[in-house]
Amino acid sequence: MNFDKKKGKKIIKKYNSSAPFYESRYKSIQFNKYLQIFSNFELEGKKIIDAGCGTGLIFDFLNKNYNSIRTTYFSLVGVDMSNKMLEIFKEKLSQFSILNHKVNLIRADLEYLPFRSERFNTLFSFTSYQNLSNIEKGFSESLRVLKNKAETYISVLKKSINQQDFINLIKPRLINMKIIDNQKIEDLIIEGILNK
Ligand SMILES: C[S@@+](CC[C@H](N)C(=O)[O-])C[C@H]1O[C@@H](n2cnc3c(N)ncnc32)[C@H](O)[C@@H]1O
Repeated sequence: MNFDKKKGKKIIKKYNSSAPFYESRYKSIQFNKYLQIFSNFELEGKKIIDAGCGTGLIFDFLNKNYNSIRTTYFSLVGVDMSNKMLEIFKEKLSQFSILNHKVNLIRADLEYLPFRSERFNTLFSFTSYQNLSNIEKGFSESLRVLKNKAETYISVLKKSINQQDFINLIKPRLINMKIIDNQKIEDLIIEGILNK
């Protein structure tokens, strides 16, 4: 795995140590964020990259909210650099063997994604980008692996970034961009269609 060694090690240490209690502490908080964008989301045909997937809460959310998830044609690749977060996701998947072939997990740095260009048509990234040593690099890597017109859903912790800088970075690359800045939610959420 290729990453900015100093910052990468710090992030891995942080999330490896919070992995055992991450879901009990953050599940409902994260689900509230997903609810902001999922009302119109169509799962059929999606090739999703979940950038900074953690323990797989988005997978849990999809599993809970899409009755026909087992028969829906979609795929999801979860990417994270914390081995402990991924272990929890992997353990979870073992209980849903019927979905195993649709979900894959990769340990990697979001700034150096090990995928060919234009592999995905949907990006989810919740509460992860603020951890990157270089957000611009992480965002451009995500753009590289996405097809043009990909659906893009990104959230970042408001307190950890310069929100205007982040909007300025993303805005030129999205059409139909919607910014969700709900006072009760700690993240700024941005959705739109990728215009490469
Ligand atoms: C706050 S958690 C969010 C997890 C998940 N998206 C959710 O909604 O619950 C942030 C995750 O991003 C991962 N992460 C942070 N920086 C990363 C990087 N540069 N590359 C890959 N994963 C990273 C962390 O390991 C952690 O699992």
